Amino acid sequence: MRLDKLLSNMGIGSRKDIKAILKKKHITVNEKIVKDGSMHVDTESDIIKVQGEIVTYQKYIYLMMNKPGGYISATVDERDKTVIDMLTPSYKLFNPFPVGRLDKDTEGLLLITNDGELAHQLISPKKDVGKTYYAKIKGHVTEEDILKFNNGIMLDDGYQAKPAKLQILHADDQSEVEVTVTEGKFHQVKRMFLAVDKKVDYLKRIKMGELELDRNLVPGDVRELTKDELEYCLSQKKN
Ligand code: URA
Repeated sequence: MRLDKLLSNMGIGSRKDIKAILKKKHITVNEKIVKDGSMHVDTESDIIKVQGEIVTYQKYIYLMMNKPGGYISATVDERDKTVIDMLTPSYKLFNPFPVGRLDKDTEGLLLITNDGELAHQLISPKKDVGKTYYAKIKGHVTEEDILKFNNGIMLDDGYQAKPAKLQILHADDQSEVEVTVTEGKFHQVKRMFLAVDKKVDYLKRIKMGELELDRNLVPGDVRELTKDELEYCLSQKKN
């Protein structure tokens, strides 16, 4: 990789800033001063320093967000703010994107990364990765609904959804449930409840595979994955 690209990707400055820093002889590769930004460096083995400080190359970023309502799960949008707009410039440098979509009004666990292969593994319906949602439902959720979800609900467009696990936390005119689906069709959970004549009033994703929403994150908070969380995600890439 070119030295100037690596330095700008790591947030050292713009290409122009980096040219100036190089000119001032503030950059070394393996302890030798380098003034040419086009030099190719080995990101694994070369030791790159800026004013004596080692710059470690990081290719991927893995972030957990507690998505707040009101934001679009996309990188850009003409009308609305996106989840990427909420990130700090240092995270934006990695050009990350959200893994799968949550509706604008849905809250909760959103993985944001620039690792396309991982994203594919987590959202591919073939991989059967369970996504669990907590939902408040207008209407009395019943044992019959559990059976219907378990058998696979037919959605309004005729699509036969895969079996989903429905757990009732509280059933009344307003019910509270947890539902686990392995697909990500448009408005999937909302449409599954519509198929049993109920309306989702509030939806929050709490789990994706083994990855659980950190309860310490308030809506809008973002943090990098912990070592264990990252290990789990990377193990999905290998499967
Ligand atoms: N199902 C929905 O209906 N909406 C979401 O945001 C996610 C799953």
